[in-house]
Amino acid sequence: MAESITITDNRTGESIEIPIEDGGVDAAQWRKLLPGIWFSDPGLATTAATPSAITELDGENGILRYRGYPIEQLAEQSTFLEVAYLLVHGELPDRAQHDSWVHEITTHTYIHENFRQRIYDAFHYDAHPMGMLTSGVAALSTFYPEAKDIEDPDNRLTQIIRLIAKIPTLAAAAYRHSQGQPFVFPDNTLDYPTNFLNMMYQVGGPYEIHPALRKAMDILLILHADHEQNCSTTTVRVVGSAHADPYSSIAAACAALYGPRHGGANEAVLNMLDEIGDYENVDSFIESVKSGAGRLMGFGHRVYKNYDPRATIIKQAADDVFEVTGKNPLLDIALKLEEVALSDEYFISRKLYPNVDFYSGLIYQAMGFPIEMFTVLFAIGRTPGWLAHWNEMLEQDSRIARPRQLYVGPGVRDYVPLSSR
Ligand code: ACO
Repeated sequence: MAESITITDNRTGESIEIPIEDGGVDAAQWRKLLPGIWFSDPGLATTAATPSAITELDGENGILRYRGYPIEQLAEQSTFLEVAYLLVHGELPDRAQHDSWVHEITTHTYIHENFRQRIYDAFHYDAHPMGMLTSGVAALSTFYPEAKDIEDPDNRLTQIIRLIAKIPTLAAAAYRHSQGQPFVFPDNTLDYPTNFLNMMYQVGGPYEIHPALRKAMDILLILHADHEQNCSTTTVRVVGSAHADPYSSIAAACAALYGPRHGGANEAVLNMLDEIGDYENVDSFIESVKSGAGRLMGFGHRVYKNYDPRATIIKQAADDVFEVTGKNPLLDIALKLEEVALSDEYFISRKLYPNVDFYSGLIYQAMGFPIEMFTVLFAIGRTPGWLAHWNEMLEQDSRIARPRQLYVGPGVRDYVPLSSR
């Protein structure tokens, strides 16, 4: 046995030696020695809930790789749909596979007319687009009841294609509803990011999109495409482990992403920059953060303790976008905040660096997206990652997710009738 740990039950003196494999130890061995003694691990911070071959994340060294390919290379040289193929299938496609994948996704972008007229139109005028998207994805399961057959890999692939294809349609439709503007149908002659931007912004005639903005949109989707076992991805795997259909599982992931601790931070960054208001106020804001008055939003990460490689790529994309749109007036404040924080002992000693959300909101805003759409954009990017994990979980023939608890409530007591209480 190369590397192992030994656990001794001090009550009985019994020991068990467990090999360390792929950086983990098998909890089933622990259960053998200690039945009925559970690990207490709130937030699952020390639990590897699954083996996975999709995304490698090394927080100490700022490394993010999809299926072994560095995120920097994919952002620079690949496209979002090719990355989606890579995440789902495990390998980069050859030319024929690529063209067929792109064709399939491009021709599954439409949604049923009932969906738009009866479901989306029923929402209040100021409904949050993320609430509409989450409900919309769940509603898709009623349009595709055959998706319940999750045992059939071909059927699974059909639903994966449908979901990646239709999410931008649902997202743009939610936005148009919130603006009181008519829905723009998908255009199957356009590529994925162009079609999405066209459905968002086309009004009364052809919509011209600058190639730099199209490219930035594609890069942002690639950067958000997967991040191993984060909250929403874990949600997909947990809900999917009950053999719920993929639309219900992805709707659950959207609901998790909606939370401000997860997909909502880019929105918080913009609110913070607005609140700071002026370049001159940066130093005093940093001092207030250090004194505990709040957090520097877009800084820090549970896993990255060196730098977030996505933030470096986004900063470059931001420069390219601002060249076209003009500089976001909040950029100077953001740059000064970063400069001051990165040279301040408080942030250095706590290993706090800009994360992916520090600059993404500035780009989205410059491209015309309202703040409420930021999490929706995250959801479009993350959909292939969610689906790759859902598929992997089913291929692994996973058991249903069912953690234990440490019961701390009252002991047994007798029921007292209401009239006697
Ligand atoms: N600003 C100021 N101080 C911070 C920040 C911050 N952004 N983040 C952490 N700290 C401090 C904490 O106060 C704490 O200090 P202490 O040791 O003196 O008490 C220390 O750093 C460690 O903080 P934790 O909360 O234990 O770090 P954790 O790993 O649990 O939190 C998190 C990570 C949630 C991302 C945190 O850094 C944070 O709140 N950042 C701001 C929100 C944000 O940008 N979230 C986006 C994350 S990326 C994503 O989800 C796509």
